[in-house]
Amino acid sequence: MSKLLLRGRTLSFLRWPDSADDRASYAYEEDGAVLMADGRIAAVGSYAEVATKAGEGVKVVDHRPHLILPGFIDAHVHVPQMQVIASYGAELLDWLNNYTFPEETKFIDAQHGRRIARLFLDEMVRHGTTTVAAYCSVHRQSAEAFFAEAHDRNMMTIAGKVMMDRNAPSGVLDTPQGSYDDTKALISDWHGKGRQRYAITPRFAITSTPEQMEMAGALAREHPDLHIQTHLSENHAEIAFTQELYPWSRDYTDIYEHYGLLGSRTLLGHCIHLSEREADALAESGAIAVFCPTSNLFLGSGLFDYHRYRRREKPLRIATATDVGGGTNYSMLRTMDEAYKVIALNGEKLNPLASYWQLTRGNAEALSISDRVGTLEPGTDADIVVLNARATPGMNLRMERIETLAEELFLLQTLGDDRAVVEVYVAGRPAKSTMDPAA
Ligand code: GUN
Ligand code: ZN
Repeated sequence: MSKLLLRGRTLSFLRWPDSADDRASYAYEEDGAVLMADGRIAAVGSYAEVATKAGEGVKVVDHRPHLILPGFIDAHVHVPQMQVIASYGAELLDWLNNYTFPEETKFIDAQHGRRIARLFLDEMVRHGTTTVAAYCSVHRQSAEAFFAEAHDRNMMTIAGKVMMDRNAPSGVLDTPQGSYDDTKALISDWHGKGRQRYAITPRFAITSTPEQMEMAGALAREHPDLHIQTHLSENHAEIAFTQELYPWSRDYTDIYEHYGLLGSRTLLGHCIHLSEREADALAESGAIAVFCPTSNLFLGSGLFDYHRYRRREKPLRIATATDVGGGTNYSMLRTMDEAYKVIALNGEKLNPLASYWQLTRGNAEALSISDRVGTLEPGTDADIVVLNARATPGMNLRMERIETLAEELFLLQTLGDDRAVVEVYVAGRPAKSTMDPAA
């Protein structure tokens, strides 16, 4: 049995933290430890207690004085957009047409797909992200390459090939039947294989014909346990175009409702400009609004109203994500920093504890995977990030004035990035320090 005992300051959330002083919302041990055995968390608590449980001869990795948290979860990200990130000067629809779609055509080449999948997961791990909900390109082989790479690393992913059969160049189009058949084959090959899960992925209403939307609905009916991921209400021109394409619909959300795509495993990227009716429809179905702050700022899409959605009579389930390559950083710390600023522009604040709840347990609950990841609870998978709040000279200096855990977390979010990620464990194995630096 492979065992490893991590010593450090352990932090795991129990529920939503109401304020920066909400001590009951988390479990924290100043001299804490996590015992990992065969890819799972076997015990967590004070070092003295866990070391006794671990028994003699167990290898100890001393991470003191760093923080040990559950690995971060990125709830919406595009694998084929690593070479799209930082493309200048366009709003959503032009950005897709000018940069994104041409780049995604390259993923017809399986070798290219495998190379980018490898570099993508390396980049995720370097930044402390251990689980992603990812979009691959339209090509079946791009999803195969991604799942193969994730499976080799024993990394949990939720992913799918995008279904898209109109309003894009021919190199990124499939057909209704082709997208159905490819999705079926990918589900059969990959869903439930190790830690891989398939997500039915119609890109968005604009790039699917009604026939393809029907196919996506059929897949959802045939596989009710699968996630569905798509985009909703990101940009005003996008919303207007959906109304031209589906003139019968009450609003953008109604299109997905009509085709049976709204449910408690539906991840809807962006959801910035929802009407009250649309927000009600999401709340009633249990669908998840995925907040992608760096992307929304970069593309000038708008300000996601996090607290409006949380506090309404029928609250929305919310996740957060990078949305690389519309998003501008792989780091979930950088993402929550921008989330804080977007929320500030809406006249509110997100308390630092809530931020880290969201990154870990909150995103896991939104993705319905909190039985496996997002906490340090015994029995769950040992996906862990180790953070150093003194990673840079500027952070080190600022730490001289820090008195509370919440302040330290806020500093890590405001100034931190991959440099603050000391180590990452994926299913109990060190994954950052063991990475090939030449890769
Ligand atoms: N809407 C449809 N496709 C995309 C995409 O790749 N990125 C973003 N940000 N929005 C989209
Ligand atoms: Zn996206």
